[in-house]
Amino acid sequence: CGIVGYIGHREAYPVIIKGLKRLEYRGYDSAGVVLYDQGELKLCKTKGKVSDLEAKAEKELDTTGTIGIGHTRWATHGVPNDVNSHPHYSNSGNLVIVHNGIIENYDPLKKELIKRGYTFKSDTDTEVLVNLIEEIKKQEHIKLGKAVQIALNQVVGAYAIVVFDKQNPDEIVAARLGSPLAIGVGEDEFFISSDASPFIEYTANAVYLDDEEMAIISLDKPLAIRKIKDDSLVDPYVQELQMNLEQIEKGGFDHFMLKEIYEQPNAIKDTFRGRLRVAEGIVKISGVEDNLQKFMNADRILIIACGTSWHAGLVAEYIFEEFARIPVEVEYASEFRYRNPVIRPNDVVIAISQSGETADTLAAIKLAKESGAFVFGVCNVVGSSISRETHSGAYTHAGPEIGVASTKAFTTQITLLTLMALRIARAKGTMARADYYRYLQELELVPDLVAEALKSNDNVQAIAAIYKDAPNCIYLGRGYNYPVALEGALKLKEISYIHAEGYPAAEMKHGPIALIDERMPVVVIAPKQEHYDKIVSNIQEIKARSGKIIAVVTKGDTQVKALADHVIEIPETSDALSPLLATIPLQLLSYHIAVMRNCNVDQPRNLAKSVTVE
Ligand code: G6P
Repeated sequence: CGIVGYIGHREAYPVIIKGLKRLEYRGYDSAGVVLYDQGELKLCKTKGKVSDLEAKAEKELDTTGTIGIGHTRWATHGVPNDVNSHPHYSNSGNLVIVHNGIIENYDPLKKELIKRGYTFKSDTDTEVLVNLIEEIKKQEHIKLGKAVQIALNQVVGAYAIVVFDKQNPDEIVAARLGSPLAIGVGEDEFFISSDASPFIEYTANAVYLDDEEMAIISLDKPLAIRKIKDDSLVDPYVQELQMNLEQIEKGGFDHFMLKEIYEQPNAIKDTFRGRLRVAEGIVKISGVEDNLQKFMNADRILIIACGTSWHAGLVAEYIFEEFARIPVEVEYASEFRYRNPVIRPNDVVIAISQSGETADTLAAIKLAKESGAFVFGVCNVVGSSISRETHSGAYTHAGPEIGVASTKAFTTQITLLTLMALRIARAKGTMARADYYRYLQELELVPDLVAEALKSNDNVQAIAAIYKDAPNCIYLGRGYNYPVALEGALKLKEISYIHAEGYPAAEMKHGPIALIDERMPVVVIAPKQEHYDKIVSNIQEIKARSGKIIAVVTKGDTQVKALADHVIEIPETSDALSPLLATIPLQLLSYHIAVMRNCNVDQPRNLAKSVTVE
């Protein structure tokens, strides 16, 4: 979910609405806003997107007021409807809250509050929390900040909250545990939000709350940050933001996703910047340099991630094993943390996350740290929770990714992990000098090759038109491109709602081949590389069963071309780098199919870009 709060001299409503729209990547099931003006709170909330909230507010909300809080929701407790959307009032109507996360022990707390006469309108855990705060405030005769602190010490779960008390309207209280909160510090105004994007046009100064910290934000006092556990004061660390407005706008593209697909040549260059020095034969990533011995001595690398980042981890498995000869295991963060994983002293853990906020990945990192492992983060969002929770790490520097379906984050993760593997391989001596130099040279060419791969757009669009109504689709790939098949299928599922499965090409004959008939499109990633002949045989197996073949091939290919119904060409590169190119037409294919099916490309149903619940 996304949170935006404002206290200052501007009209709060437009600031909040604009901010919520930028945070819709965090969820868009329902949205709401509360404003404070002349002693009164005014609330408007609805199922649907921020634009639905705007339409409703236009009819029924007086939008004046210089204090307000808004929310865009990804439902956890309670179906997305008007009543369950945030903000929530306390029973007296004096307190109002927005919340991101889950209160796990809400049930006993709720029962206790019911005994004390409280009633609940919604099914949410949030309404329990706001009434708990109210009850504590009443019992102890204390101000809001103190009551929030006591309440949070009784709560089990994860949260980012913003609370306001109309009886004490000169301050807003915010707190976090597990879900991010940034405070924008302007002149005589403060912004509180899930990330800095809602306030970048107003101020470049931001304070990021740490876990178990709360802030009391008031116009006539300095910003006060306290530890929730022991009430100790923390010095606010004001950071200067690096983001700019242009990076978070569509810039002429119809969708963020398409813009981000086309940003990949530059995004990959940005991942290289200062790290890849081909002429000198140097790969230098400071987090890796600082910990080179740990990587060199690693008996094993454990990669933990979710979703698309997990797919990048699978590509990295092939690359690390091949280049650096270190055994790699790739785990879903959620599975890793709930079993009793064997973590040995010389294991190195790499956590991959675009947002740096994924709750499952964060929890897995904590578990790995408890077992004494060295944990290295590969994140895109600078200053994110995972980047702070890990011992060391490196940023992908892809720039803000707003489309919910991940594109440039994936290719830049692979780029960074490839650089890491090369550096470690070189240090360990597991890669011949000549190969190392060849890879550096080829890597430097990748941005131009990606730009060339993007030229397949019109061809891909024409293929999309043919298959847009298919109910199912299979993606096949081998070796380095097996994870690309998984990612291609995930992209199609996510944004077009077509059921798709990715498989290692050779595994098809052990089951999925039963699905193949003349209505089944099969996307085969078949660049000219090792085991090319094997994949040609797989294509023949599909053809023999009348499946429709869409093949991604190396430019100039003739053998697959003769068999496939459609071919999409990508430039030639070495096997290990081919995922960076083969991914491009698959991203475009799902994009065009989703557009043709009138799907909401940037905000697919039921998904959120940053999932801060487990
Ligand atoms: C969500 C998104 C996916 C993403 C996954 C992991 O489910 O919808 O696109 O791959 O989270 O996110 P992360 O930010 O950790 O890479």
